[in-house]
Amino acid sequence: MRPTTSLLVTGGAGFIGSAFIRYLLKLPEFTGRILNYDLLTYAANLDFLKGFENHPRYRFVQGDIRNQALVEKLLLDCEIDMVVHFAAETHVDRSIASASPFIETNVLGTLSLLEAVKKFPHVHFHHISTDEVYGSLGESGSFSEISAYRPNSPYSASKAASDHLVRAFAQTYRLSTTMSHCSNNYGPCQNREKFIPLMIHNCLKKKPLPVYGRGSNIRDWIYVDDHAEAVWRILQKGRRDEVYDIGGNTELSNLELLQLLIDLMQKERPGDYHSLIRFVQDRPGHDYRYAINSFKIENELDWRPKINLNEGLLRTIRWYAS
Ligand SMILES: NC(=O)c1ccc[n+]([C@@H]2O[C@H](COP(=O)([O-])OP(=O)(O)OC[C@H]3O[C@@H](n4cnc5c(N)ncnc54)[C@H](O)[C@@H]3O)[C@@H](O)[C@H]2O)c1
Repeated sequence: MRPTTSLLVTGGAGFIGSAFIRYLLKLPEFTGRILNYDLLTYAANLDFLKGFENHPRYRFVQGDIRNQALVEKLLLDCEIDMVVHFAAETHVDRSIASASPFIETNVLGTLSLLEAVKKFPHVHFHHISTDEVYGSLGESGSFSEISAYRPNSPYSASKAASDHLVRAFAQTYRLSTTMSHCSNNYGPCQNREKFIPLMIHNCLKKKPLPVYGRGSNIRDWIYVDDHAEAVWRILQKGRRDEVYDIGGNTELSNLELLQLLIDLMQKERPGDYHSLIRFVQDRPGHDYRYAINSFKIENELDWRPKINLNEGLLRTIRWYAS
């Protein structure tokens, strides 16, 4: 088990980063300190950490991961021994509209962090990545840690580039690293531009429910707290310089997911949501199917997702509805 006394979490005011911080600060066995380092872009919201602002072992600093001097100062002053890197530009549609911010943040930002960490050889660096770096699957098969990289969107290409930098810094400069690729997360605090929050919001507002193509694209879904637990397990027990793929074992087409979401919505707030579904022009380069084989993390680190889709969606609907 790695000693964790002081963590710097980048992107901790976003969807998954804030879930990770909430998870750790509520975990009785976690006695370390957390420094949340976030630029507070449109995707961030410090309200996601309401109730934790004055926690004695939590601190927030607003800053850009590309500000290497500030990151180095924080690594030194706060005696950081682990960096958990969530910060990124994350919305595929935005990357299609304009790729540059994705290169700036995801590639150059990760490079800047690695350059900072290089000066502190005792600091471990965990990189949060996505299954989207592997590209698209056909009807069968699944991605694993040894799958080839075939990114299809500017977002996934920028994440793939950042993965390669992390690996190269581990190999070249002997940085201590781990990396994880996770499937689609859902849960409270996700930005409304993403599929599930958008659908819940539009159901609540009786607005059209836009579905790309015929809704046949297939994704694997994982509740965000399960992802947080998996990352913590890797930080504690993962082997240095290893990659771990994290999946939810819950594959559905977008239309199947929407139908389930509508069924659950109807129980919570009865209404005719089906008539709101609108099929819209497909996203260019839209990956057909993602699926993750989590054999390695399940067997090596004894991690499994705990929250099933019905339960997770109900929690998510109730959070957005309130
Ligand atoms: N959401 C998913 O389904 C999913 C799945 C797999 C992997 N991931 C990865 O998980 C990580 C977090 O995703 P998310 O969905 O929570 O994203 P998000 O968009 O909700 O949050 C991103 C956070 O990063 C911060 N940020 C952006 N640019 C920054 C910069 N230059 N400096 C400092 N902070 C900056 C933002 O302010 C925001 O708080 C990303 O690396 C993403 O690629 C996400």
